Amino acid sequence: TYVVTENCIQCKYTDCAEVCPVECFHEGPNFLAIDPVECIDCAACVPECPADAIFAEDDVPEDQRDFTALNAELSKHWPVILRKKAAPADADEWNGKPGKRPLLRR
Ligand code: SF4
Ligand code: F3S
Repeated sequence: TYVVTENCIQCKYTDCAEVCPVECFHEGPNFLAIDPVECIDCAACVPECPADAIFAEDDVPEDQRDFTALNAELSKHWPVILRKKAAPADADEWNGKPGKRPLLRR
């Protein structure tokens, strides 16, 4: 499966959801999560993310490994998102900021 990681938080550009062929992105307040059961490992979403937040499970950075389980859990509770929508007005300011993990809202 592919995994959305920390840099999506507060950026949520949603370009990824638009290109996914199997509708596996789920939308929370300030983060998107991939349903690992639905993901077919096509990798189409990876280059679309302006925050470079999506990784193949095997390539998730060491300090973000917990995001694999987090995507599985959160995607169960959040609705599917199929189309790109406007990113938060301050998304570009958050892009690349470290330490966003505590800001993740459920
Ligand atoms: Fe969707 Fe493909 Fe990305 Fe999986 S790898 S989330 S199937 S676009
Ligand atoms: Fe997040 Fe990147 Fe998608 S910032 S919403 S993973 S395009």
